[in-house]
Amino acid sequence: MERTALITGVRRVGRFVAEGLLRRGYNLAVVYRSSEEVVGEIRNTADSLGRKFVAVRADLSRGVRYGELVDRVVSELGGIDAFVHLASPYRRSPLETLTPEDLDYHMGPIAEAFLFLSLEVYRVMLRNEGTVKGRIVAFGDWAVETPYRGYTAYFIAKGALHTAVKVLAKEFAPHVLVNCVALGPTLKPEDLEEGIWHRVIKNTPLKREVPLEDVVNLVIFLLEAEGITGEIIRLDSGRHIAGSGTGSLV
Ligand SMILES: NC(=O)c1ccc[n+]([C@@H]2O[C@H](COP(=O)([O-])OP(=O)(O)OC[C@H]3O[C@@H](n4cnc5c(N)ncnc54)[C@H](OP(=O)(O)O)[C@@H]3O)[C@@H](O)[C@H]2O)c1
Repeated sequence: MERTALITGVRRVGRFVAEGLLRRGYNLAVVYRSSEEVVGEIRNTADSLGRKFVAVRADLSRGVRYGELVDRVVSELGGIDAFVHLASPYRRSPLETLTPEDLDYHMGPIAEAFLFLSLEVYRVMLRNEGTVKGRIVAFGDWAVETPYRGYTAYFIAKGALHTAVKVLAKEFAPHVLVNCVALGPTLKPEDLEEGIWHRVIKNTPLKREVPLEDVVNLVIFLLEAEGITGEIIRLDSGRHIAGSGTGSLV
């Protein structure tokens, strides 16, 4: 039976998830904002595996026509079985200089887009056969419960995302399962100094980055399991055990 996944945010970690889903047999719809080159490479993987593929360009800041976006995917791929939301800015926004724009910049793609895309996707998933008609996986952050300093707007938006996962898991039961991967250090943020990243990893109990294979395997598990919903699962090399201290990042 053919299965289709919709995925947002494929520049780095999302690319591995997208290719993992293709290898697992999913047809794929990718929502991207600027990563055209990466999308082209994922398209090549889809072609080589004989999977259907569609890419939709959208800036998931406020004002997106979520219904039209999902309808376009359905008209090209026939339906949606899985929705994986990774799209997320990660920009410093220290409390001392915080602006409403900082909050908007993060809330739109991280929380609002997740909520409204999920509502549209749910409407489509209800047409699927079986008791479990679809699964949704959001990408949160291990540090939502113990945020480090300097990323105020990001953490408030990721916190809203974690809450949205629980709200939707209850509302969408029993037909659609909604879970969250609260990721820890996996790939160094592009604008972060190497030295700081090394300190982050050194302070992580497992002393290594989260392997990308773990990320892909956890997503696939959550897209195939029948008995789990409303969970926020930390995948963080144990970083939550060490905590984030009183400083910024390390
Ligand atoms: N990397 C880590 O170690 C780590 C740690 C904790 C949590 N996470 C979470 O894991 C997920 C993936 O992380 P990552 O490091 O791969 O992220 P990343 O490299 O920063 O990529 C972010 C993605 O979000 C998309 N995006 C950002 N703003 C957008 C907007 N307004 N509209 C549409 N798309 C937008 C980007 O799309 P375009 O490239 O197309 O512009 C990009 O694909 C994220 O949710 C992140 O918060 C990652």
